[in-house]
Amino acid sequence: MDKIPRHIAIIMDGNGRWAKKQGKRRIVGHNRGAKTVREIVEEAARKDIEFLTLFAFSTENWNRPKDEVNLLMKLLVSSLKKEFLRLIQNNIKMRSVGNLDSLPQLVKEELLFVIEKTKNNKGMVLTLALNYGGKEEIVEAVKCISNKVKNSIISPEKVDESTINEHLYSQNLPPVDLLIRTSGEKRISNFLLWHIAYAELYFTKTLWPDFTKEDLQNAILNYGKRERRFGKTSEQVTF
Ligand code: FPP
Repeated sequence: MDKIPRHIAIIMDGNGRWAKKQGKRRIVGHNRGAKTVREIVEEAARKDIEFLTLFAFSTENWNRPKDEVNLLMKLLVSSLKKEFLRLIQNNIKMRSVGNLDSLPQLVKEELLFVIEKTKNNKGMVLTLALNYGGKEEIVEAVKCISNKVKNSIISPEKVDESTINEHLYSQNLPPVDLLIRTSGEKRISNFLLWHIAYAELYFTKTLWPDFTKEDLQNAILNYGKRERRFGKTSEQVTF
């Protein structure tokens, strides 16, 4: 049987272009993007993916026009309210990564409510990256570790990969196995920099609102055919 990725992360790109192609406002693309989120989350859970992490809003997205940012925040709140019961029905556990402090109060409240209500679910872990930046995450971890070193809580020689892991926002997230980016762009855009060290990258021209269950299946099948060597030789990993 082909390998299944344990952790899939997705950069959901192309909502704006999708809307423009139809002569509609960008927010129409985000609304359709939210529908794709629902379908892909449920499909990933059905496929027994253990971790799905979605890039919903980056630290750089604040630079978008104010109207678009406000509408995106409203869409997040309404999606969380609307999808909450389906998350429960599908046994999905919601988490978040990113700096929640500067998010609008309503987004924060709704998110924390859903995280609390789904915390005992045993199925797929769905992580929303919100106000998230990979560099910022590493900077914050380094600050925290430096303070502990300064106060002799950690000795500098003991700092290793697990120390960094334990100080990231996403300390419970395993490494990403498969990173998908839609819309034809081939960039990482500051997403999960630490976790994608050995991720397999999958780029598709499909715009996020058009991304279907079949596209997810194709990405997983493509992943299954790759040889992951983690620095070793092909012979070492095959035999
Ligand atoms: C990128 O497309 C998409 C975003 C910045 C936001 C992602 C948000 C959603 C998919 C909708 C709601 C999310 C949830 C979790 C319910 P873009 O606007 O950069 O597209 P463009 O590059 O074509 O302009």
